[in-house]
Amino acid sequence: MFRLPTLVSLFALAAAKLAQATPCVSFDANFNLLVFGLDGKDWNAGTQDSWSSGSATDITTSGRPSFDAPNTTCYLSQYYNAVYVMNGDSSDKSAVYIYDAAKKSWSTQSVTTGKFDPSNFVAVLDHDTNVFYAISGTDLYFLNMGSETTANSSALSWVDVETDPFPSSYTAPVAALAQNHIHFLDVPNVPAGEAKIFVIHFSYFQPDAQSYPASSGNSFPAAHGKTASFFQSEGVQQEFAFIPDDGSATYVINVENNSTTSYAGPTSKDAGSVYAASISALVQLDSSGNLYFFPYTEGDASANTAAAWTKVQAVSKVAPASSAAASATGGHSGSGSATGSAGSSSSTGTSGNTSGAPAAVKVSRGLAAAGVLGIVGYLL
Ligand SMILES: *[C@@H]1O[C@H](CO)[C@@H](O)[C@H](O)[C@H]1NC(C)=O
Ligand SMILES: *[C@@H]1O[C@H](CO)[C@@H](O)[C@H](O)[C@H]1NC(C)=O
Ligand SMILES: *[C@@H]1O[C@H](CO)[C@@H](O)[C@H](O)[C@H]1NC(C)=O
Ligand SMILES: *[C@@H]1O[C@H](CO)[C@@H](O)[C@H](O)[C@H]1NC(C)=O
Ligand SMILES: *[C@@H]1O[C@H](CO)[C@@H](O)[C@H](O)[C@H]1NC(C)=O
Repeated sequence: MFRLPTLVSLFALAAAKLAQATPCVSFDANFNLLVFGLDGKDWNAGTQDSWSSGSATDITTSGRPSFDAPNTTCYLSQYYNAVYVMNGDSSDKSAVYIYDAAKKSWSTQSVTTGKFDPSNFVAVLDHDTNVFYAISGTDLYFLNMGSETTANSSALSWVDVETDPFPSSYTAPVAALAQNHIHFLDVPNVPAGEAKIFVIHFSYFQPDAQSYPASSGNSFPAAHGKTASFFQSEGVQQEFAFIPDDGSATYVINVENNSTTSYAGPTSKDAGSVYAASISALVQLDSSGNLYFFPYTEGDASANTAAAWTKVQAVSKVAPASSAAASATGGHSGSGSATGSAGSSSSTGTSGNTSGAPAAVKVSRGLAAAGVLGIVGYLL
């Protein structure tokens, strides 16, 4: 029996450590789908035509962040064909890890944070200026990435622009970029179907909310959720997708004609999902490591109404989401506390299945190990 505590503490440690991992999803400027930190590796699934039949390429290489931190986020710099990764490595939470997609190489940009809290922010990367804008705490900040595809030896700095105009109860901002404007959804006292706007080029918060009605009458709810901006072949994004945490629908907000159209919600209803968009697809990475895409045709509502969320087989083939997550969760010994620790370590306090947030396969593996060890412990 003396081995039982050892096994239990082993699995608790393993679960706590593994639960931290967060993969992320992005694109390069040619719209090859990139998935980082999935199954411990980085993957290039190619362009959309090969997602259902192809096989993703392992692009794991030196200099990468270890993708062991919670709340990892990735951003495509379209002009520079670079992906910027925040919270990519728990050893340096303020750094921006830069993936040069042309050279397939990594570098680490050190960043001075000041009051900016790298463990609590929401950011967009402005398309035209390559400047990040973020809300962290009560303030709006920017971080100018210049034309970086490789890190500078000197540190960059988050610059505190101003106190944001939002009520203090707006603790989990929802931000989306389109037309060099940052759209804030789910702002307290702002009704469904309306967004507060920050105009980047004038560094100006518009006093009145902007309305984005749906001709169906069913515009987006005043709810927390995730966003992704659809790129254009050139120039700034004009539409963004908003997926509320309950996954009930996919809303596309068009800022050219001030409209919202709703389409099918993701198959995987998972508040811990993260999203990325290309010109012609919206991609979901759920918290079990499953990747799905929704083929999207700008300006063709009937095609989009008929479109369906589909698994990205090119990735599941090489980096399968572990079915062990489900069995570990379904089992008894050990798995309960493992699930609990995953949930509490990364819960955003919003709603739905926060267990593990987008902690993906590493968590699944952790839970599987935990489940096995727990059963061993139970038997001893
Ligand atoms: C992840 O982000 C959420 C929302 O910003 C924050 O509340 C939470 O503390 C973050 N988790 C960690 C472990 O930093
Ligand atoms: C990187 O360093 C170079 C040379 O000092 C400078 O010209 C450039 O502006 C820096 N890049 C950024 C993004 O600050
Ligand atoms: C969208 O709304 C803004 C602000 O109300 C208005 O200035 C603009 O003309 C509208 N655009 C269209 C195409 O209706
Ligand atoms: C706005 O433009 C989008 C994209 O072209 C189109 O799908 C949508 O029907 C338009 N909505 C309105 C109200 O004009
Ligand atoms: C939580 O996960 C379960 C099982 O995967 C699913 O049936 C349910 O819809 C999910 N709930 C939310 C709110 O995502």
